[in-house]
Parts: sequence; C-alpha cells; structure tokens
Amino acid sequence: MDANIDDLKKQAAEKAVEFVESGMVVGLGTGSTAVHAVNAIGRKLQTGGLRDIIAIPTSEETARNAQKWGIPLTTFDAHPVIDVTIDGADEVAPNLDVMKGLGGALLREKIVAAASKRLIIVADDSKHVNLLGTKAPVPVEVIPFAQKPVTDFLESLGGRPVSRQQDGQPYLTDEKNIILDCFFDGGIADAP
Ligand code: A5P
Repeated sequence: MDANIDDLKKQAAEKAVEFVESGMVVGLGTGSTAVHAVNAIGRKLQTGGLRDIIAIPTSEETARNAQKWGIPLTTFDAHPVIDVTIDGADEVAPNLDVMKGLGGALLREKIVAAASKRLIIVADDSKHVNLLGTKAPVPVEVIPFAQKPVTDFLESLGGRPVSRQQDGQPYLTDEKNIILDCFFDGGIADAP
C-alpha cells in the first residue's frame, strides 16, 4: 500500500480514537484503516491515556490484534450495548452512504454497528465516489446452502454476483459463510 495513504489512514483513525473514553465498551472494526484505530487504543491503554476499556471485535483477525495489545475483549451476552465503534469503508458517497465488507467481515461488522450508540467510519480520500458501486462490488455474505437462490435474486436486481475465491477455494468468512461480490455496471443509482 502507498505509504502516504497508509499514513493518512493512520492519522484519521487516531483522530477517531479521540472519541473513545475510559470505561467505554468499544467496537473494533476490521481492515487496513481500522487496524490503526485498534493499535492507537492499544497504545493509549499501555501508556495510561485510556483505562477500563472493553471491546467487541468484528473479526477473528481484529480479535488477535486486540489481544496482542492487551485490549480486554467481551461478548454481547456481557455487554449488549457498545458505546462507540470505529471501522473503515470501501466507498463513501456524497450523501455519506457507505459500502463496506471488502475485508470479509461484513456480517459481524453490521451486527456490531447495529449494537453501537455511535459508529465512526474512517475513510481516506481514495474511498470517495459519486455513486456507490462504481469502484467496489457489493459484498453479500451468504450461507453456502443458499448460494443458488441468492445468486438468482441478485441477478434479478441487475447485479453480477461473483463468488469470492481464496487460494482456489471459495472464501469463507469467520462465520463459515461464502461471499458473493455483486457488481453493478455503472454503479447503483438507488442505493437505500
Ligand atoms: C471489512 O470487512 C471492511 O468492511 C472494511 O472495513 C473495509 O473493507 C475497509 O477496509 P480498508 O480500511 O482496508 O480499506
């Protein structure tokens, strides 16, 4: 990745972390932007800039990074409400609609976002689009059993779903689901 872009991601993520206060339940996003927020929270915990943070990660990858920093993790059973979540985005439209999920953590991200009182999306300039779907496909997480009917449904909407692959095999999410990356030629004019 361009070092300059990564530095901008880091700066933006560190700004977002200023909204995290001691004692909060924090949702930890996934991706090359959100990792900077996790790192910044970890550093602040280690240097005393934050204390008594407890976190819910949006992926196993983020959980591993949080554990590396000694950020205590919790579950929805213990903490059903999250004070603030910091995450990245793949595309940001002028009306601030966003596309997420290219990192593959979309289902857990949406569940964490829905449980959050405040959601901070950190996006560098490269994520700006005039119309969602022009740079990135819409990632749709699907249980393997439903691949065919969901593919047919996405095609009926005018999309071109492509099963995401990794090392020659279907990519599997943390929930062991597949992802259909759905391309829309010319973007999505009526994204809700
Ligand atoms: C993870 O599933 C995604 O939603 C990411 O938050 C999104 O893809 C942004 O990732 P980057 O910060 O790596 O661009």
